[in-house]
Amino acid sequence: MELLLTAALIALSLTLLVYWRRGNSGHRRLPPGPPALPLLGNSLQIDKRAPDRSVLQLSKKYGPVFTLWFGPRPAVVLCGFKAVKEALVNQADDFGARGTVPSIRKVTNGYGIASSNGRRSHQLRSFAISALRGFRAKTLEAFVQEEAECLVEVIRKAGESPFDPSFQLTCATANIMCAIVFGNRFDYTDPKLLSLLNMMNENIKFISSPWGQLYDLLPNLLDWLPGPHNRLFENANRIKNYLRERIQVHKNMHTEGRSQDFIDSFLNKMEEEKGNPWSEFSDENLLMSTFNIFLAGTDTTSSTMQWGLLLFLKYPEVQEKIQREIDRVIGMVRTPCIADKEKMPYTNAAIHEIQRYSNVIPLNLPHTVARDTEFRGFLIPKGMIVIPVLTSVLYDPTCWETPESFNVNHFLDERGQLKQNEAFLPFSIGKRMCIGEEVAQMQLFIFLTTLLQNFTIKSRVEPSAIDISPLSSGFSTLHHPYQLYCIPRNSSPRPSRQ
Ligand code: HEM
Repeated sequence: MELLLTAALIALSLTLLVYWRRGNSGHRRLPPGPPALPLLGNSLQIDKRAPDRSVLQLSKKYGPVFTLWFGPRPAVVLCGFKAVKEALVNQADDFGARGTVPSIRKVTNGYGIASSNGRRSHQLRSFAISALRGFRAKTLEAFVQEEAECLVEVIRKAGESPFDPSFQLTCATANIMCAIVFGNRFDYTDPKLLSLLNMMNENIKFISSPWGQLYDLLPNLLDWLPGPHNRLFENANRIKNYLRERIQVHKNMHTEGRSQDFIDSFLNKMEEEKGNPWSEFSDENLLMSTFNIFLAGTDTTSSTMQWGLLLFLKYPEVQEKIQREIDRVIGMVRTPCIADKEKMPYTNAAIHEIQRYSNVIPLNLPHTVARDTEFRGFLIPKGMIVIPVLTSVLYDPTCWETPESFNVNHFLDERGQLKQNEAFLPFSIGKRMCIGEEVAQMQLFIFLTTLLQNFTIKSRVEPSAIDISPLSSGFSTLHHPYQLYCIPRNSSPRPSRQ
């Protein structure tokens, strides 16, 4: 199927050669890059299973700033910590706009925090950051602890047979997003939760697949054709419909000043801003912002934890050291809390290294330049897509001692204390960096320590046989499937919260 499509595209490409030459004449001061085919651009030079690695290879030849053609559209690729920081931090205003791809544009219509720019993005982003800060201060930690206890119970009930933990971990992180957005959690068997997770999972797999990449090359053509891309939009519509229902329930119950969750706070803000013609606090932006938070926060955090458990199986000595720290600082009687983190430098360093190594958003989200931008002697025209590649930062050989290996010492100094590294940017940096960093870090710490407080995890196979290379790294970096045993560490009653 892929071969047929490629052949059809090449034929179509040749007929559009003349058109392309004309269209290309305005890009003379773009950074250099590999020669591109008309219409197909450089897509044949990019490994569909590991586009980030192809880009790193190309940067060896073309330098840290180069141009790649995604079909008929050029994009500027930034590789390495220095180039990414220079653009996203030193020229933050120029590089701080959100680039969008056709599939995402079709789902969001430019509404919501993650797909907007200018005034809209400014208002929605600042609001969401302060709403999340409010939850962190009030109730978020208790939600995460409660969810961690539920996760332990679900695993305990499942007994000691081997299982793939990805489902349980995704339910746990989805429940934290549900608590933030709607104010409640679901049982892991609830059909509503299962259907939402199923649709999200299908969509993530699709946008990381060659079909997903093809849709973004030729949206106008594929919009007329049957194919798996239609499923992406059906799923997105079903998720949106569900969120609409929840928003309506909130509206029916809403009384001014009630702010138990993100939707409540947004409804308050809509009231407050009534009569302001510049206000972006509208129904469309409420819907798409809840959609953004729900999607952006669930899979990223769950996938990092899945990588974490896999790495503990591969390196049992890391698990043992964390358990020793848990026993010393927390004990077995209470559930871990975020204040424990600073007394547990080894655990903290191990979680940092899990995030670096797992590199869950390898190509970052696309940015765009907000105006014509001079960068390292090149001219990037307003609106051009920019890809600040996170693999090139998290694996930058000039910043990490052993970038290709999992090495907790990347984050430990000679006294065994946490050592920061500027190139630790799994959440990106600059004006569009992740707004959920602290929420994610709270979950990673409390979930992983609660699991290792209650269980020792063991692999079905020898650690030497465990493959920790990525299975694929399109939109997100996927690990090879694995199973584990959870052996209870003691049979005492469930720990209590502090
Ligand atoms: C380990 C977990 C996570 C990782 C690795 C991660 C990573 C990222 C990255 C790389 C970006 C793009 C930044 C850029 O364009 O420069 C991003 C954006 C975003 N993230 Fe996260 N994220 C995580 C968890 C979360 C959570 C828990 C939430 C919600 C509470 C969240 C909400 C968002 C939103 C709304 C955006 C879009 C921001 C904008 O466009 O202005 N993320 N994230």
